[in-house]
Amino acid sequence: GVSRSRSISSLRMAETALSQDELKKMVGYKSVDDYVESGMVVGLGTGSTAYFAVERLGQKLKDGELKDIVAIPTSVRTKEQAESLGIPLVTLDTHSKLDVAIDGADEVDPDLNLVKGGGGALLREKMVEVCADKFIVIVDESKLCDGLGPGFPLPVEITPFCHEHTLRTIASLPTCEGCDAVLRMGSSSTNKPDGDEIAVTDNGNYIVDLHFKEAIKDAPAMASELKNTVGVVDHGLFCDMTTAVIIAGSDGISSYCS
Ligand code: 5RP
Repeated sequence: GVSRSRSISSLRMAETALSQDELKKMVGYKSVDDYVESGMVVGLGTGSTAYFAVERLGQKLKDGELKDIVAIPTSVRTKEQAESLGIPLVTLDTHSKLDVAIDGADEVDPDLNLVKGGGGALLREKMVEVCADKFIVIVDESKLCDGLGPGFPLPVEITPFCHEHTLRTIASLPTCEGCDAVLRMGSSSTNKPDGDEIAVTDNGNYIVDLHFKEAIKDAPAMASELKNTVGVVDHGLFCDMTTAVIIAGSDGISSYCS
């Protein structure tokens, strides 16, 4: 399990000069250094932390430190970044088995279950990451929590067709009782919840963010209820998927395996 204390963490953070971006870069680089070898099929995550893993992979390919890599991006944004770095890309259609996938997360609980999808890429992330032999999660310590839910809204990807009906259906699920279900606004899937248009994912769908007042008690039960709801495409609960999490804190890097 992962032990933590928010108050101690924030105190230590204040004492050091490392910015959150520098912490993200540390774990992004380390994930590639520790887990990617020549000849691998690599899943590339989405977000401001995964960005640095993609950057590192591009560097090592350019320098010749890594060879014969093919990668599968989890969003249009990541695809564009990888292309700009000359990383050879393939898709799940030709490569259904990945050696490793590396991605960030919005929340990580002590069992290494995750909330993902703050950046709206949860469907492609899950499709790619379930196909990986190893799924490596990279976070700064602000993402650690004792229980999923209250610290970050749970994103659920739904079809645009009759989305208000689906939103009400989700809010009335037994495991989601008491949550506040909010349709994500923004100018595109890359935006966090803001803006004045309905946010559209890379797959042409909408996102509902579920705000919980208390920690989710049974994440696998909620995951299956959401998944069984017609109109829901997928959700941001990633249970029993993580191989290892690499955490950057003010006192260095630590990692935990499941
Ligand atoms: C995108 C994700 C991201 O991994 C998650 O939002 C974390 O992003 P960041 O590293 O920018 O905090 O799930 O859908």
